[in-house]
Amino acid sequence: MKHIDIREIIGNSYYVGKTVTVCGWVRTSRDSKNVAFLEINDGTSLKHLQVVIDKEKISDFDSAMKLGCSVKVSGEICENPNNGVEINACDITVLGESPADYPLQKKRHTLEFLRTMPHLRVRTNTFNAVFRVRSVLASAIHEYFQSRGYVYVNTPIITGSDAEGAGEVFRVTTQPYDHGFKTEEEYYANDFFGKKAGLSVSGQLEGEVAAMAFGKIYTFGPSFRAENSNTPRHLAEFWHIEPEVAFAELPDIIEIAEDMIKTIIYKVIERCPDELAFFEKHFEPGLTDKLKSIISHNFEVLDYTKAIEILKSADRKFNYPCDWGCDLQTEHERYITEEVFNKPVFVINYPKDIKAFYMKQNPDGKTVAATDLLVPGVGEIIGCSEREADYDKLVEAMKQRGMNFDDYKDYLDLRKFGSVPHSGFGLGFERILMYITGMSNIRDIALYPRTVGSVR
Ligand code: 4AD
Repeated sequence: MKHIDIREIIGNSYYVGKTVTVCGWVRTSRDSKNVAFLEINDGTSLKHLQVVIDKEKISDFDSAMKLGCSVKVSGEICENPNNGVEINACDITVLGESPADYPLQKKRHTLEFLRTMPHLRVRTNTFNAVFRVRSVLASAIHEYFQSRGYVYVNTPIITGSDAEGAGEVFRVTTQPYDHGFKTEEEYYANDFFGKKAGLSVSGQLEGEVAAMAFGKIYTFGPSFRAENSNTPRHLAEFWHIEPEVAFAELPDIIEIAEDMIKTIIYKVIERCPDELAFFEKHFEPGLTDKLKSIISHNFEVLDYTKAIEILKSADRKFNYPCDWGCDLQTEHERYITEEVFNKPVFVINYPKDIKAFYMKQNPDGKTVAATDLLVPGVGEIIGCSEREADYDKLVEAMKQRGMNFDDYKDYLDLRKFGSVPHSGFGLGFERILMYITGMSNIRDIALYPRTVGSVR
């Protein structure tokens, strides 16, 4: 169907006086004595195009006035003092009708209401803006790594090991419900893979395999977590960016993470001004200044031990008391990043007992060379560490956690054959999108969010 994108026409005087064909969905309609008006949107622009219908020229336009219907409009583009340009219709074809039960009749609906209809909410301005920024951000992330010589690898989605050792894996099975097996081993031995399998919580372990050959790699794919966390920051299926870098120690990977975050935010500021202005107006006043400030200031680097001291001397009561050795709760993370520093903070050198087996053990014997990047409003967006490159230390950490060595043979081999210092991190794609857009619920960042008790 030959037509021109609305984004091409809006704000482009080239088309004034020209006759064009546009397509879109009707967002608003208004009837007056001699003329009727439609605002249509084809998804290519946040701005709608106004269609002016001269009733003397076009009489059969009633079904085009129904919100949500799809139309093809031909006509002349004219200047309009309020909207920039509009189209004086000479022909309107309704491509798909929309009866009166189309749910998006109001100008603004609550996000909660919109969550009940993921297939239609994408037609609102909010979701148009979210998904355009999502697309631009994905491209900026690929550009960042590609232009610096990283190899993009696709790590397996079905896996036989639980990367984090956290036991929050979705099982993958083809066994029928009524299997009749007595033990777990017997059950899985007869399963598709002949052993227990699940959906990957992280591509890191396979990413390390690739980094030990290609030097610098990154993954960008889905991760799955069956954790029972019904919060505005958790999805059961989220997109995960995981670079892994050989010959890099913790300070090196922190430098890379900070540079990457700043670079991709810069790209969004450059490429999505309308969308950011929209979020600024409707969701987070001061958003653009916040993003500019992130780019122009150094992130804070804070030792975990110092973070605990700050929290203990805070003149406020936390719901979860914290002592050295405890995991930081959301309220602690928010206090540190929002109230103490008001900028992104890398908390480094966590106690080894609250972190994963693969993290490099520090000489103090108590902590690991790991960091989480905390940001105001969202909390943790990056989990990062230097990896334990010493075979014996890694084996000891696995023993302490009672891990099954058979599942990690490849991983251990990396420490046997040409082991090198290496580091990596995992960035939650939806989490950084929340930070950049100011949207406060992760359910409004994914097309079809999967959360505890909800799949569609
Ligand atoms: O801190 P995490 O668990 O780290 C890892 O998975 C490491 N293997 C990463 C690595 O070193 N390659 O997860 C990394 C990030 C978190 O900081 C968060 O942004 C995101 O993944 N994330 C989630 N995002 C949405 N919903 C969830 N349930 C998430 N769990 C983690």
